[in-house]
Amino acid sequence: TGCFTYDPGFTSTASCDSALTYIDGDEGVLLHRGYPIGELAEDSSFMEVSYLMLNGELPSKDELDTFTYTISRHTMLHEQLMQFYRGFRRDAHPMAIMCGVVGALSAFYHDSTDIADPEHRRISSHRLIAKMPTIAAAAYKYSVGQPFVYPDNSLSYTGNFLKMTFGVPAEPYEVNPVVERALDRIFILHADHEQNASTSTVRLAGSSGANPFACIAAGIACLWGPAHGGANEAALNMLREIGTPDKIPHYIARAKDKNDPFRLMGFGHRVYKNYDPRATVMQKTVREVFEALKVSDPVFEVALQLEEMALNDPYFIEKKLFPNVDFYSGVILSAIGFPTTMFTALFALARTVGWVAQWNEMISDPGQKIGRPRQLYTGPTQRPYVPVDKR
Ligand code: CMC
Repeated sequence: TGCFTYDPGFTSTASCDSALTYIDGDEGVLLHRGYPIGELAEDSSFMEVSYLMLNGELPSKDELDTFTYTISRHTMLHEQLMQFYRGFRRDAHPMAIMCGVVGALSAFYHDSTDIADPEHRRISSHRLIAKMPTIAAAAYKYSVGQPFVYPDNSLSYTGNFLKMTFGVPAEPYEVNPVVERALDRIFILHADHEQNASTSTVRLAGSSGANPFACIAAGIACLWGPAHGGANEAALNMLREIGTPDKIPHYIARAKDKNDPFRLMGFGHRVYKNYDPRATVMQKTVREVFEALKVSDPVFEVALQLEEMALNDPYFIEKKLFPNVDFYSGVILSAIGFPTTMFTALFALARTVGWVAQWNEMISDPGQKIGRPRQLYTGPTQRPYVPVDKR
């Protein structure tokens, strides 16, 4: 009964108003609070973009310094939370650990649980943005059996994350500025993307008034899947499997074959029917990182040739399938030294900014209601219960 619009996968349903992110998928445009992603990625910093997303305007120098300082004051994890890691199997996927540890933050911060209070929401948001690098780096350290490295607040947000991930207590760690800048840029490119699956999940979880840390844990769970944040891991695995350019036609043929479930990972997007502007920045960043680290990786050549072949293939042209943000990000992350299992954890770290900004926007909207989609029922009509001995 009732009159609903049937829209599986929400391809044509707007679920909210938002002033955060604008996408024109046909033109390949992405703006945060009006600023083009290319300009932000080129000239801004992740801390600046985080401030912009949370507060609506770019910060003055003083505002940025204060914000950066505030975030740095929240980078440590409660020692008891550090113990929590030991309950996970050593070979646990970092995203499994992230879901659990971020959800567990809700058991630690009882001083900011009044979500109707903007100050409480602000503290929770800062804690989430600040602690995510520590949580992700600790997940990595745990998996390789190295001691956790504590945050170093004399470093930048991204420099500190690199040190917590790759530093060891026995040796001094020097942050490579090109790597730091490249990773910061990757964080900017992943900061928000309007009502994608994980952000919608955070909003839906938050719409019931749930604890913000639990809501972000829900977003992390959703992001994990290979059709969403897990695509960067899947894309690099695919490029490695292809291995050499001569194998590309075989994989393109598989992607086009309706009877083969294989898809080109890092290709296609629900909204972009043109080049993903984030992929353009990524491709350029690969070259910068390779040059700075004096490394090369045959998968980059495979990626470039795969892109060229796909973009000239009628199947991909007709379906408007272009490389997305994840096509090149894995190549960079791998060159920096991250194992593939960490890729989605890095995406979660960066997307936390979008999640908390969207959550704040939703909670402060006076017209906000609990999210409650309807359905088209396809089960049996009413029938009488039959006792088990009569079945
Ligand atoms: N390779 C081959 N064919 C594809 C691909 C691909 N990567 N993507 C879509 N298609 C085809 C698909 O088979 C379908 O064909 P048909 O109309 O004949 O059935 C058509 O294009 C439309 O695809 P869809 O699955 O209905 O489109 P969607 O909007 O539901 O899916 C997507 C979008 C991103 C899930 C999909 O393109 C995909 O699975 N891509 C690979 C995974 C990936 O790279 N995901 C990262 C997305 S960007 C980062 C993020 O959001 O987390």
